Amino acid sequence: MAVRKSQRLDKVLVHMGIGTRKEIRKLAKAGRIKVNGSVADDPGLHVLPEEDKITVDGETIDYREHIYLLMNKPQGVISATEDRNEEVVTDLLEPEHRVFEPFPVGRLDKDTEGLLLLTSDGKLSHQLLSPKKHVPKTYYAEVDGLVTEEDTIAFKNGVTLDDGYETMPGELTILSAGPRSEVELTIYEGKYHQVKRMFEAVGKKVVFLKRIAMGPLSLDPDLEPGEYRELTPEELASLKGEDTP
Ligand code: URA
Repeated sequence: MAVRKSQRLDKVLVHMGIGTRKEIRKLAKAGRIKVNGSVADDPGLHVLPEEDKITVDGETIDYREHIYLLMNKPQGVISATEDRNEEVVTDLLEPEHRVFEPFPVGRLDKDTEGLLLLTSDGKLSHQLLSPKKHVPKTYYAEVDGLVTEEDTIAFKNGVTLDDGYETMPGELTILSAGPRSEVELTIYEGKYHQVKRMFEAVGKKVVFLKRIAMGPLSLDPDLEPGEYRELTPEELASLKGEDTP
């Protein structure tokens, strides 16, 4: 159980993107901030942000230490927080989410779409990306050429990538086989361009790639490419390996 620590009112409101410290001070002095129903004119008042009811102009502040966002990343956007020339995934966020300074957990290629988690929680990100954790990632792919049971077996045994790396076993499900095959592939590691390179290792080319699951999270079918939403409490708990609250 996390220890609930008290914090200065102005610090809490700056964190939530309400304004600068100076602006919060003005709001407080103007009597526009209330804590548990009483006007709080002292910006240095200590509050328990997760327990106390804080309002600004009557609007309740829904305090969160971190933000956790499930995005359907569109093609053409880079999995980064800044880039000199290209649009990045954090450009797609509303200011109310950007104030938390979230960053993508891992990367999808520019031309890959699908599930991308963005968070400000460095500890969780680190855990999910740790090579030791083997967090499963499932992709839907369209592949030029006929994908066969031999490919399924090859992926199950691990394939050798162009740099000599032997992959861990991956689970390949063939959805349709033809001149352009449709497959799902689950992998437990995240080497650079891994899915594309695994297909190259069996002489095939991925022409469309979309991540549909990562650990306990699945891509939300209601999210169009470029859209996102916050994780539900249940999704967050399962991601952190906790029991559902
Ligand atoms: N594998 C790839 O080749 N590209 C991605 O974006 C993700 C996994």
